[in-house]
Amino acid sequence: MIQLKQVSKSYGSQRALAGIDLEIPQGECAVLIGPSGCGKSTLLKTINRMVAVDGGEVVVDGKRNTDYAPEVLRRQIGYCIQGVGLFPHFTVRENIAVVPRLLGWKEREIDGRIRRLLDMSGLPSSYLGKKPGQLSGGESQRVGVCRALAADPPVLLMDEPFGAVDPLTREKLQLAFNQIQEELKKTVVFVTHDVEEAILLADRVVVMNQGRIVSNKAPGKFAGLLEEGFVKSFLGNEYPLRLLKRYSAKALHLEDKPPWTNPLQGGAGECLTQETNLKEVLSEMMRRNEQALPFLLQDNRVVQVEYMDIVHHLHAVSK
Ligand SMILES: Nc1ncnc2c1ncn2[C@@H]1O[C@H](COP(=O)(O)OP(=O)(O)OP(=O)(O)O)[C@@H](O)[C@H]1O
Ligand SMILES: [Mg+2]
Repeated sequence: MIQLKQVSKSYGSQRALAGIDLEIPQGECAVLIGPSGCGKSTLLKTINRMVAVDGGEVVVDGKRNTDYAPEVLRRQIGYCIQGVGLFPHFTVRENIAVVPRLLGWKEREIDGRIRRLLDMSGLPSSYLGKKPGQLSGGESQRVGVCRALAADPPVLLMDEPFGAVDPLTREKLQLAFNQIQEELKKTVVFVTHDVEEAILLADRVVVMNQGRIVSNKAPGKFAGLLEEGFVKSFLGNEYPLRLLKRYSAKALHLEDKPPWTNPLQGGAGECLTQETNLKEVLSEMMRRNEQALPFLLQDNRVVQVEYMDIVHHLHAVSK
């Protein structure tokens, strides 16, 4: 668990953090989002003590982070640096292996781990002998993510780790991240500029502005925001539409609906299934010019999924 209590930090006369209070429970992913220069990277770095605070304290796993020996602290915190920060003279393999080697892992163990991580990030194993200078920006970022995950630390700090990756690869990495997170339940602080990425990955979305936290809620809770203000303008008017992608049709609990006896009448086409996300469901309605579509439940019954099911779901999660 990570706790920041009244943390402040200035660089000369430039105030970067102004009294930050933040608690991230074990196994949760907090996503920091906010305009450039609002203090996101500085906040991350106060956690692993790459930045010393001027005031307040940071508690990691029940103990002030200043009470840990620096190497003990950093061993349990994987850090994915903004702009990658790979060691230029090391190969990809050596870069990923840095922390496991420090921890005295056997080379065979390291090999197995590296293979799994490369597989997850979609990089071919032929890249292991390359130097960072021979990689594209997005490839380097993926190596950076592998390096942060290499020793399986319980805490992960990830500073815009997918920023330079193309949209398709980015989506794959986000899905892989969610799968890892579901399985391993790391405590994660993740920085992004991308609202959709925050929606997909966050247990809590933490909106920052000018060195302060201006809002901190589960992603769904921002959907009903009606009053104008910084948070709404930063997250965008189309936030509820973007939020749809976070939920699969399973969340609609359509099991209680009566069976739909003749779903294919009127050319309604193929059934949607539990895994379809709500953005795809809505897109399908628009594509087929229908407000209700056939939906295949897990027990093979066919029911209707209706436009208002989606609207009601968003309303419910925003409460
Ligand atoms: N090493 C430093 N020396 C002086 N000022 C710094 C330093 N690092 C950051 N700052 C300043 O502190 C403020 C917060 O910077 P920080 O890097 O935390 O922002 P950020 O939210 O991560 O921005 P971005 O989205 O552009 O990465 C900025 O005004 C920045 O100019
Ligand atoms: Mg930054």
